[in-house]
Amino acid sequence: MIKTIKTTPYDDQKMGTGGLRKKTKVMMQENYFENFIQSIFNTIGDLSGKVFVVGGDGRYYNDKAIQQFIKMAAANNVAKLIIGQNGLLSTPASSNILLKNKTDGGFVFSASHNPGGLNGDFGIKYANETGGQIPTSISDKIYENSKKISEYKIYDAPDIDLSKLGKSKLGNMEIEVIDSVKDYVEMMENIFDFEALKKLFRNGFTMKFDAFNAVTGPYAIKIFEEILGAKKGSVINSNPLPDFGGKHPDPNMTYATELLAIMNSDSAPDFGAANDGDGDRNMILGKKFFVSPSDSLAILTDYYQLIPAYKNGIYGVAKSCPTSTAVSRVAKAHNLPYYEVPTGWKYFVNLMDSKRITLCGEESFGTGSSHIREKDGIWAVLFWLSIIAKTGMSVEQITRDHWKKYGRSYYLRFDFEGLDTKVADKLMADLEEKLSSLNGKTFGSYQVDKAYPFIYNDPVDKSSTKNGLIVDFIGGSRIVYRLSGTGSSGATLRVYLENYDKEKIDNNPRQMLETLLSVAMEIAEITSRTGKKEADVVT
Ligand code: G1P
Ligand code: ZN
Repeated sequence: MIKTIKTTPYDDQKMGTGGLRKKTKVMMQENYFENFIQSIFNTIGDLSGKVFVVGGDGRYYNDKAIQQFIKMAAANNVAKLIIGQNGLLSTPASSNILLKNKTDGGFVFSASHNPGGLNGDFGIKYANETGGQIPTSISDKIYENSKKISEYKIYDAPDIDLSKLGKSKLGNMEIEVIDSVKDYVEMMENIFDFEALKKLFRNGFTMKFDAFNAVTGPYAIKIFEEILGAKKGSVINSNPLPDFGGKHPDPNMTYATELLAIMNSDSAPDFGAANDGDGDRNMILGKKFFVSPSDSLAILTDYYQLIPAYKNGIYGVAKSCPTSTAVSRVAKAHNLPYYEVPTGWKYFVNLMDSKRITLCGEESFGTGSSHIREKDGIWAVLFWLSIIAKTGMSVEQITRDHWKKYGRSYYLRFDFEGLDTKVADKLMADLEEKLSSLNGKTFGSYQVDKAYPFIYNDPVDKSSTKNGLIVDFIGGSRIVYRLSGTGSSGATLRVYLENYDKEKIDNNPRQMLETLLSVAMEIAEITSRTGKKEADVVT
């Protein structure tokens, strides 16, 4: 039986860079989740004949959310749902299933790399038929609809058993529970040379992959251990748990402490990697060695010809604005079309759909290609393993070799978290105001070349987006300021620093960036405005 439930709107259901992301307890408020889903359905309009992919990263409230979603979809006339077994699907796997089955959209219940659990975060990512997250024009409409919602429709029925593969029905809606891993594995086999990778492991290559007890465990076990032959135990924290076993599933130098300890020990394996909660981010490590994500994008691009799927040529490459300029030099050397876009994967999607780029990435541990329309953590790991298998070099050798050839972009991101939203907005507004007055000014040994807001004119949909403020210095150093769009409370100011050096490639990034950091603090008056003397997180 279909029920119509009366409801009142919440006024904070605006999607950010990674969908709608909130504290779990906010999401669990009466009708909160349901209001938002109905707002999406109302925005789409007629749902008859529509097919959606549904899954999540297994975090707390995932099970309840999926059941509510299924019942609401059935009540709203959706034709079919394709659901990952036990409600699990990584973001890249979901994008693949969405595209492969030409469905109308996909829902991944995840707050990505944010902690899970009752006191953590919960999120809703919504992709449309492109396989990528919706454009702002649509999320704005959803937000408007969420502010005037008065009722939602839901099927009154028992929960669906998502542990069994196969087809069933709820009302007129078909439900197909699929193996969460199978299609993804097939896709990877079609991109990479699995035989070469098997040989690498047969020859004794060792690795550790940290899945943070989130969604990538089953994918990693299947691919690295079962198919490629990495030793049992190569994948750690492989069991998806509702609270991620208390871990913060963010693959970076701050949160991947267990993996870092392994990789920094004398008995470190040859290779280390981690993915985030929903499997779209990646971190790459060698023995006692860290690869900055900006360098990783540049290196993957430099070696694209080694990968079967790319060996006949790629369209081009793109990076997000705050990502270091390392990949721009590789693009130039290979004569590849090159783009710089605002932060957020959806800008890459337009470039992929219009065959302008094949590879892309962000400083925030996200790399990917046009095989899907999301970034892809395991794909990045397989790409690195392929380079190692084909060149015989270690992670460190590959990276140093890159610096020797192209010079090095020393790069770090400094996050000032938990700021009062008004204070943060004012800081950015005032900084933007004074940008032009900075031109030509000197700060110690740094002289401003040009200070300006980053404005992107999308060559595909012709939209124009302002995203971040840039201060370029003579000699190639750079500061980018922007506010995070993914937080679940308060504001986060991100300060991205880059210092390019053609000769000195062996220094410590923190040391190389120390002076630039104080310049960045001074220019934006960070301490006097926010009370923060230093960043909360440095990645
Ligand atoms: C962050 C990252 C950005 C990424 C997004 C979604 O967004 O910085 O690169 O696309 O998460 O994973 P931010 O919080 O900076 O808006
Ligand atoms: Zn993610």
